[in-house]
Amino acid sequence: MKFFIDTANLNEIKEAEALGILDGVTTNPSLMAKEGISGEQNIINHYVAICNLVDGPVSAEVISVDFEGMVKEGEKFAALHKNIVVKVPMTVDGVKAIKYFSSKGIKTNCTLVFSAGQAILAAKAGATMVSPFIGRIDDSNWDGVQLIEQIVHIYRTYNFKTEVLAASIRSGLHIVKCAEAGADIATCPLSSIKNLFKHPLTDIGLAQFLADYKKVNG
Ligand code: E4P
Repeated sequence: MKFFIDTANLNEIKEAEALGILDGVTTNPSLMAKEGISGEQNIINHYVAICNLVDGPVSAEVISVDFEGMVKEGEKFAALHKNIVVKVPMTVDGVKAIKYFSSKGIKTNCTLVFSAGQAILAAKAGATMVSPFIGRIDDSNWDGVQLIEQIVHIYRTYNFKTEVLAASIRSGLHIVKCAEAGADIATCPLSSIKNLFKHPLTDIGLAQFLADYKKVNG
């Protein structure tokens, strides 16, 4: 499973990249706003800065909601860097835009996906990736991981090439459950990635090894 980091924070991206296990980055307008990135040129510069930090797909989300606007924005983003993936919302115009981008060889990430039906539409339009938001589903008392299992099953049955990108991850356990369910990618906050390192028996075992080494080596 590939690991993406879900942030627009350059320091977090650098830290994740330094771990040696990072495959890409996803952003969204809320994450960009959190970093105080505003204005068309600053937004563009920020995407380029992210692309220069990570050698992997970087999702840049359109803010237009109409087909023409999405196409204009997406083509601009795609021209910035070879790693850019245009992130498009799951709407009627969004699906049309994904179909258009797919015919032009521009990679897409269909975002805000909450059902298997939406995932089928995204795949049929030729989305490169589909982003089911599992944390937000769990927050609403449904089962986010179950949706990942359902989409993976459908995509394998019909040999859809769209990658399942588990998004809205809240914990290390979410990552493991998505891996078990067969997600191609998980996009995670840095804290969830770091959480995977932790196990008390690792700490206890390491302390014991070092203590035993010291006993005979001083
Ligand atoms: C996906 O690409 C989104 O940016 C993200 O995972 C949303 O997560 P949230 O529900 O924590 O905002």
